[in-house]
Amino acid sequence: MEATSVAESAAAVATMRLGAYGRDAEVVEEAAGEILLLWALHQPAAQRQNAFVRHSSRTLAIDACGHRLTVLQSPSSMSTPGVTGAVMWDSGIVLGKFLEHAVDSGTLSLHGKRVVELGAGCGLVGCIAALLGADVMLTDLPDRLKLLKKNVDLNVEGWNKRGSARVSELTWGDDIDTELLDPMPDIVLGSDVVYSEAAVEDLLSTLKQICGCHTTVFVAGELRNDAVLEYFLEGAMKEFVVGRVDQSQWHPDYRSDRVALYILVKK
Ligand SMILES: C[S@@+](CC[C@H](N)C(=O)[O-])C[C@H]1O[C@@H](n2cnc3c(N)ncnc32)[C@H](O)[C@@H]1O
Repeated sequence: MEATSVAESAAAVATMRLGAYGRDAEVVEEAAGEILLLWALHQPAAQRQNAFVRHSSRTLAIDACGHRLTVLQSPSSMSTPGVTGAVMWDSGIVLGKFLEHAVDSGTLSLHGKRVVELGAGCGLVGCIAALLGADVMLTDLPDRLKLLKKNVDLNVEGWNKRGSARVSELTWGDDIDTELLDPMPDIVLGSDVVYSEAAVEDLLSTLKQICGCHTTVFVAGELRNDAVLEYFLEGAMKEFVVGRVDQSQWHPDYRSDRVALYILVKK
């Protein structure tokens, strides 16, 4: 597709409100077209990687919800094959700050909402959701829970918080603990959870199981691999209406052309 026709299709895109989010998202009609549009308009490969994070550092400080949060990282664990959640990723910062911005601007309410975070890694997103008033279960693979719990204790337990945060194992594709399903979560969060084609089926299976008809999913993805994102969108669109949140709606200081933010609600 030429640049002008990409821009024309972008202009023609349908928008609608999805789930608990009070502003319009751009409805994704076709996975391949979405990928073409993102890569043509945003040129992600030409953008700076890790704009908001530093993977070599043992701590990452970020201001959110009126506090200076400190995220503990384990850079040395990143040399273990398959370990990705020992450091923060840009899409986690984008999603956490988007939630804060959406709540502050009245387009999302998290107060008293049941929230589950998938693939929480170091846990910043879930911690921010708890500080915004949600009751959050941060989940990840069993060997990721120790660092996750430390970050929850450090960033949620100490503050005069309104919500709560707990940590639990949830391996995508496995049966889900009934505690997480009864009642179904209001909100499901995932940042940088779409990065491996091998994991997409299991992630989608978990999303299908954990979402009820009133659940709103926010997924922030890094634009590294067009094939993996396309595969995820194709699978997701069979069960969910998928909308992309335009960058103009993100936190003004945390926008990146290497990140895309999607909302999913069950059809
Ligand atoms: C790239 S990291 C992103 C971490 C964090 N969400 C962030 O944005 O910084 C991907 C996360 O997904 C988790 N993960 C990968 N495969 C998983 C699986 N099969 N089940 C559960 N979690 C998984 C990893 O352990 C890791 O924490």
